[in-house]
Amino acid sequence: VTAPRRVPLDFPPRPHEATIGRGLLGTIGESAASALPDGAARGVCAVVTDDHVAAAGHAAAVAASLRAAGFDPVVETLPAGEAAKSLDVAGRLWTSFAAARLDRGSIVVAVGGGAVIDVAGFAASAWMRGVPWIAVPTTLLAMADASVGGKTAVNLHAGKNLVGSIHMPSAVVMDLTTLATLPPRELRSGLGEILKCAVLAERGRIAALRSGAAALLASSGPAGDESLADTVEFAVRVKADHVRDDATETRGVRALLNLGHTTAHALEAEAGYGTMLHGEAVAIGLVVAARISVRRGLCEPSLEPDLVAAAEAFGLPTLLPSSIDPSRIVERARIDKKHTASRRRMVLPARDRGAVLSDVPDDELRAAL
Ligand SMILES: NC(=O)c1ccc[n+]([C@@H]2O[C@H](COP(=O)([O-])OP(=O)(O)OC[C@H]3O[C@@H](n4cnc5c(N)ncnc54)[C@H](O)[C@@H]3O)[C@@H](O)[C@H]2O)c1
Ligand SMILES: [Zn+2]
Repeated sequence: VTAPRRVPLDFPPRPHEATIGRGLLGTIGESAASALPDGAARGVCAVVTDDHVAAAGHAAAVAASLRAAGFDPVVETLPAGEAAKSLDVAGRLWTSFAAARLDRGSIVVAVGGGAVIDVAGFAASAWMRGVPWIAVPTTLLAMADASVGGKTAVNLHAGKNLVGSIHMPSAVVMDLTTLATLPPRELRSGLGEILKCAVLAERGRIAALRSGAAALLASSGPAGDESLADTVEFAVRVKADHVRDDATETRGVRALLNLGHTTAHALEAEAGYGTMLHGEAVAIGLVVAARISVRRGLCEPSLEPDLVAAAEAFGLPTLLPSSIDPSRIVERARIDKKHTASRRRMVLPARDRGAVLSDVPDDELRAAL
C-alpha cells in the first residue's frame, strides 16, 4: 500500500488538504476530529449521502469510522443524482439536523458525487450560519472538480446552481476504491474533465492519457496501479491552481476552467438534462474549442486530433450527436446570461498550454460544430 498523496488546497478563509489514496474511508473519523472547532466535543454529526452510494456501502464505512472515533453519526440518504440538489432536499437536511441536535460544533460529512457534495456543502454553509464539513467525493468528476474550491449549490426550476455559497470544507478525502462501484459510463465521463485539465496545464498528458486509457479505466478498486492516483492528483492540482490564482473570481483565471463548457452546457440542455453526461458533453466541447483555436492559428494544429484520439480511447464522444441541430446549440450558447448579441465569450486553447477568453461569433461556432 502506497502512502496517500496530499495536495494543499490553500484557499482562504480555510486552507485545507485533499488526501488521495485507497482505503481512506476508515480515516474519516480522525479527519472529523481534526476539523472540530476549538473546544467542541466529539458528539453528534451528520453523514449525507445518496441511495446509490449508500447501497454501495460507502456511507456505512464512513459512519463506522466516525463511530470508532467517538462520534455519533446520523445518516441522511438523499435521492440519487441531480434530484438531490433542491431547496426541498436542503430543507429536509436542516430538519434532520435539528432533530439530531446538530449545533455550531457539529460536523457534516458529504459522501457522494458532485450532487451530494453540492447540496450537503450548501446545507452545512447555512446551518447555524455555517458549520464545518468534510467532502468525501465518490465519483471521478467530484474528485477532479466538484470537491475542490468550496462552491456549493442547489438548483431552482429557473436554472441550475442558482442558489449557493462558497463554504470551504475542512478536508477533502478521496478514496479511489469507491470508484470501483461507480457505473463505467460515469467513470469515463469524469475523464472528460481531466482531459480539459491536460489542455489547460500539460498538453503532453493528452497523449499519455490516451495510451494509458485501458489501464486507467481498470485501475479503480483496491488493487489498482498508481495511474489513477496520478491522474486525480493532476486534476486536483490544476483546479487548485486556477482557484488559487483567482480566489475572488475577478481576474478571469478561474473562468478558464470553463474550457469546453459553452458548448457542453448548450448540448446538455438541448439533449435534455441527464441524456448526455456532463463529461461527455465536455469532451465534445473541448474538440469544438480546439477546432476554433486551430482555425484561428491560436494553438498547435495537433491539438484537435490529439484530443479526438484521447477522447475515443476513453469511450467519450467527439462529434455532435446526429439528433442535435447545430443551430440550436449556437442559439443556446448565445442566450446564456453571460452572452450577448450574436456572439459569445468562449475559452479557447492557447499555443502549447493555457487558454484565453475570446468572443466567438455565431458563424464561427456553427462552422466548428
Ligand atoms: N461545486 C463545484 O465546484 C462543482 C463542480 C463541478 C460539478 N459540480 C456539480 O456536480 C454534479 C455532478 O456530479 P457527479 O458527476 O459526481 O454526479 P452525481 O453526484 O449525480 O453522481 C453520478 C451518479 O453516480 C452515483 N454514484 C456516485 N458515487 C458512486 C459510487 N462510488 N458508486 C456507485 N454509484 C455512485 C450517484 O448516485 C449518481 O447516480 C452536478 O450537479 C454539478 O453541477 C459542482
Ligand atoms: Zn465541468
